[in-house]
Amino acid sequence: MAPGSLDFQCALVTGGGGGIGRAISEYFISQGKKVIICGRTESKLESASKEMGATAFYKLDTGDIKAIPEFIKKITSEHPDLDCIVNNAGVQRPLSLKDMKAEEFLEKADNEISINISGPMHLSIGLLPHFRSKKSAVIMNVSSVLGYIPTSIINPVYNGTKAFVHFHTMNIRSQLAQAGDNIKVVEIAPPSVGTDLHREREDPDDNKKDKNSSALTVEEFMDDVIKGWKENKDTIGAGPSLKVVDRWYGEFGADYAKVEKN
Ligand SMILES: NC(=O)c1ccc[n+]([C@@H]2O[C@H](COP(=O)([O-])OP(=O)(O)OC[C@H]3O[C@@H](n4cnc5c(N)ncnc54)[C@H](OP(=O)(O)O)[C@@H]3O)[C@@H](O)[C@H]2O)c1
Repeated sequence: MAPGSLDFQCALVTGGGGGIGRAISEYFISQGKKVIICGRTESKLESASKEMGATAFYKLDTGDIKAIPEFIKKITSEHPDLDCIVNNAGVQRPLSLKDMKAEEFLEKADNEISINISGPMHLSIGLLPHFRSKKSAVIMNVSSVLGYIPTSIINPVYNGTKAFVHFHTMNIRSQLAQAGDNIKVVEIAPPSVGTDLHREREDPDDNKKDKNSSALTVEEFMDDVIKGWKENKDTIGAGPSLKVVDRWYGEFGADYAKVEKN
């Protein structure tokens, strides 16, 4: 049987220097866990790490998949107690077929796919041999409500990357359970949360409460996520995304459970 969502000692949180990743890291630390954060901006990682009391920070562009095997070697030798990864780092790029040349569209799209899809997949699958050497381990992937309903038409690649995270997370959960691995696999599907994620949009603050009444503050979001962890949910929604996740599982959950059993 898989462990509980919070049954781990030491977590690597990608993008833990800001936004949702930082809030997750702070909560884990408040619960006595060791937290290691990584991201691209060293100064941000250094100050966040100091302020939170993180165990360590590493500079890593999670979209640079060639660097990941070496990073995994380093982090698991320096922190052999690592038994959780939170694939949180992600980017959102407005992409326009009307205003962009094909080259620009594709360059940005490829980068977004590397960061949102390839990086998280290489990190969690690359860490599996290490996780399998532990008593138990936890993999958490951050998707989005937009991976369930692609309502953000200005983000024609982002929505799909998050749908990938949703389906990939379900399938690796099933495969690890079928293989008898003691690894809990959690998906967190945020709605709009007031962070810096929309920095490339025309209005970078359109995910903040004063501009978008259905958006959550980071604190409101974390309240639902913590509840989801405590209830040991496999898929955790928050605020408006709770309903969307429930609708999805209400429609397709039984079909999936049927094939999962075979
Ligand atoms: N906020 C929302 O409304 C919302 C909604 C649904 C889903 N999400 C998802 O939640 C996750 C966290 O987003 P957020 O809202 O907290 O956004 P954020 O405020 O922009 O924070 C993202 C963090 O990820 C790091 N990061 C970005 N690209 C990276 C890369 N290539 N390598 C390593 N670190 C990277 C950033 O640090 P550096 O720039 O220093 O690397 C930053 O610390 C993302 O996966 C996002 O898609 C957010």
